[in-house]
Formats: sequence, structure tokens, C-alpha cells
Amino acid sequence: MKKTFVDNFLWGGAVAAHQFEGAYQEGGKGLSIADFMTLGSHETPRELTDAIEADKYYPNHLASDFYHHYQEDIKLMAEMGFKAFRTSIAWTRIFPNGDETEPNEAGLAFYDRVFDELLKNGIQPVITLSHFEMPINLVKKYGGWSNRKLIDLFTHFAYVCFDRYHEKVKYWMTFNEINNQTNYLSDLSVYENSGIKFSPEISPAEKEQLMYQAAHYELVASAKAVQIAHTIDPTLQVGCMLAFCPIYPASSKPEDILFAQRAMDTRLYFGDVHVNGYYPNWLKAYFEEKGIKLDITPEDLTILQKGTVDYIAFSYYMSFMAEYTDHDDYREYQDLRPNPHVKANDWGWQIDPIGLRYSLTWMMNRWHKPLFIVENGLGAYDELTTDHQVHDQYRIEYLRNHIEQMKKAVVEDGVDLLGYLPWGCIDLVSASTGEMKKRYGFVYVDADDYGKGSMKRYPKDSFYWYQKVIANNGSDL
Ligand code: BG6
Repeated sequence: MKKTFVDNFLWGGAVAAHQFEGAYQEGGKGLSIADFMTLGSHETPRELTDAIEADKYYPNHLASDFYHHYQEDIKLMAEMGFKAFRTSIAWTRIFPNGDETEPNEAGLAFYDRVFDELLKNGIQPVITLSHFEMPINLVKKYGGWSNRKLIDLFTHFAYVCFDRYHEKVKYWMTFNEINNQTNYLSDLSVYENSGIKFSPEISPAEKEQLMYQAAHYELVASAKAVQIAHTIDPTLQVGCMLAFCPIYPASSKPEDILFAQRAMDTRLYFGDVHVNGYYPNWLKAYFEEKGIKLDITPEDLTILQKGTVDYIAFSYYMSFMAEYTDHDDYREYQDLRPNPHVKANDWGWQIDPIGLRYSLTWMMNRWHKPLFIVENGLGAYDELTTDHQVHDQYRIEYLRNHIEQMKKAVVEDGVDLLGYLPWGCIDLVSASTGEMKKRYGFVYVDADDYGKGSMKRYPKDSFYWYQKVIANNGSDL
């Protein structure tokens, strides 16, 4: 058994285009759903407006301005010793409206510049095709992923990206955290995942049906994308991307155990379909019992079977618990509870490093595919001192505790892990709240929630700590 991580373990960091790039109208970029999301906070949800309103602030428009800082940012990543960097390709840079036939060359050229810069610095790009940033036109004109037409539009986008970049990018992911929409009563999650805005009169049951339908089209689109990638270049590795939060039973009561199992199955069936290529029996039975009728064609089922993923990428931030009350089906909006045994960060996200080891072994035992941690980290308030330092010992501790558990999973449990890409390696805009002050980075970006500041980059204490961790391949934390 290995003593530590493999030599080519992919240490690095992760971001997403809409939270990091800014330049929301440069280089021919079209408007995405993220451009219509206002600034929120832990207490106030982000508004999803129909138009860009002059008196509201939209933090993704400027974000961290990576578009104009990419050389400097990549230099900082190289200084830390990054082997890989995960970002997404903004669909709207390539197809501003999402339904054009010909791509936007200026958008394609921007990612060529970024990928070339990364490769020049010995960093592999790891790319998500769809990370909460679909073209707004697809929402307005087609109703987002409630429309089967999106499968062709997405796979055309995927084809163009694989064809253009297959020599520069080996690791791809289709849909970021496709399973967030399990909570189909969350306006934000369903909008970010599927570009669906529910009308106020729609019932919870109808919302659930729509969510499953949209997810089905996404799963088919993903499976098609896997096949396209392999046809263009058989060496490409295409993964799914799941938000993995273990849901523990509230007690050892058999009812709680069974209920927590159902909770995990409900959140993670997306992974089952991506990896196994078919729907699990329990879910088919559930659809029947609930009268959920989906547009699933025999051809779709063949596509799912033929387009299973090469690896499983996932984010890990927190764990939860579930307790059996009076219904057998898991309803995320009411059944997902905080775990009283672990502490939470300032935004209520529960910190549970052991849960990371649990997650890794759970997935290995269920899916038997290589795993890739493409998000993990602590959102925290940082203070920039007058001499431009950030003493973020709390972040170092968080990351150290998680890496320790990840190492146990690799060394003691034999998990096949490709790499570790902590989230928001350079500060960026939060997806859930739109704040800048919920910071994850090793590098501080001097901007406040309203984008005010010099945009200068300052390494934090965690920068130097992570640099050492990478240099010794995780042997000394
Ligand atoms: C994941 C997303 O949900 O968590 C990222 O893939 C997001 O886009 C990250 O930024 C952290 O969440 P937040 O809300 O703190 O930005």
C-alpha cells in the first residue's frame, strides 16, 4: 500500500468563470444567468432579476477580474507549485446566446491564452463545461433545461470545446454539482443548475417533476458529451461533478438508518446514472408511486449506457444528518438537519474533516472509479493588515485537517484519488451569497462586496503553508 500520495498527484486549486473572470461583456461575451444575480448575504438571498437593474449590484460582472489578471494569477499559482488548476469555460464566451451555430473566436482565443499560460507554468487545466453560468437567452427562449432542445445546444458547445482544446486539456467535467437541485424548492439551486425559474403558482409536486426532467436531459447531455470527447480524442478523461455532503443518521434507530440511506440515495442518484449508465430501481419505483412521468426515450437510455464517466469529481464542504419523522421519502427542504456533533463556519457550513474520508470511501465502494476532489475549503472573513498580510491560521487548520483525512483515505483505505483542488484558491465571489468577503483563497484580492478596492493580489499565510505541502507531496502538513 502507498505511504503517501502518488508522485503525479494533482495539487492545485479551483475557481469558476462567472465567480472569477469578470469582464462580463468583453470579447463578445453574452449574458449568462450569473449576470442577473444580485449581491446577497448569509441572511438575504440573492435576487434573480429578469433584467439588469440600474439600482442593484451584480457582483459577477467584475468578480476578481481574472480576465485582465490571468498572467499575474497564474504566476502566483506556479509559485505555490500548482500542478493543476480547475476553472470553467463560460458558455457565453463561446456561444453568447447559446444557440448560434458558429462559436465566438474571441472567446475561444481567451481560453487558449489562459491554457497556454498555465501549461507554460507546468499547470494542467482541469475544465468544467457548465458551472452555474448558462446563457440567459436559453432561459428566456427555451425555458432552460426543462427543454429537450438544450441537449443539442450543450453538446454542440461541448464538441467545440473538446475539438479546440483536446491537446491542452485532459480532464473535463460536464455539470458542476448537478445534484444541488435535489432541493427543488430552492430557487437559487434550480436556477443555477438548470436555468429554470418557477412561476409562483406552481406546486411543490410540479417543481419536483420539472427538476427530475431537467436533470434527465442534463444526464443525457453529459453522456453524449462523454462519447463526443472519446471520439475526438480517446485519451480525454470526462467526469461528472457532485456536491458530496454525507447525511448521517440521527441515531442508530433502524428507521433513522434507513431514512439517512434514502437521503443519500436521493442526493446521489445523479452519480449512479453518470457512473452506471442507468436509473436505480428504487428511483423508478419512486417515480411510479409519486406519479412522476418523465420524457425518457429508449434512445436516451442507450446514450446513458454508452456515455458513462471516466472519473468522479466532487466538492466537499460539510456533512448533515437526517432523522425519520413521519414520511419515508426524503424531502431535502425539510429533512436536512445540522449535525450537533460538529461546529459550523460563520455561514453555518458544518466543518467535518472525517466526513471527507467517509465520502471518499463511500464513493470508492459504490462506484469503483478514480475520484477527484475539485472543491474543498473554508469560507471565512479575512483581515488585511496595514502591511498587506493575512494571518489565516484558521484556514490552514481547516485544510490541514481535511488533507490528513484525505491522506488516510488514500494510504489506509486504498482510495484512487487523482488530486486535490481546493476552492477559490484566489479570492472570488461567493456563489450562494455573491459576497466577496466570504473568502476561500490562498491569495487575498483587494476588493469588497461591491467590487471596490485596488484588485491587487496579496499572498496570505496559507499561501506559504500550501506551497510547502505541495513541495513535500503532503508528507508534512
Ligand atoms: C460550490 C460551488 O457549491 O461551492 C461553487 O461549486 C461555490 O461555485 C462553492 O462557490 C462555495 O460556495 P459559496 O457559496 O461559499 O461560494
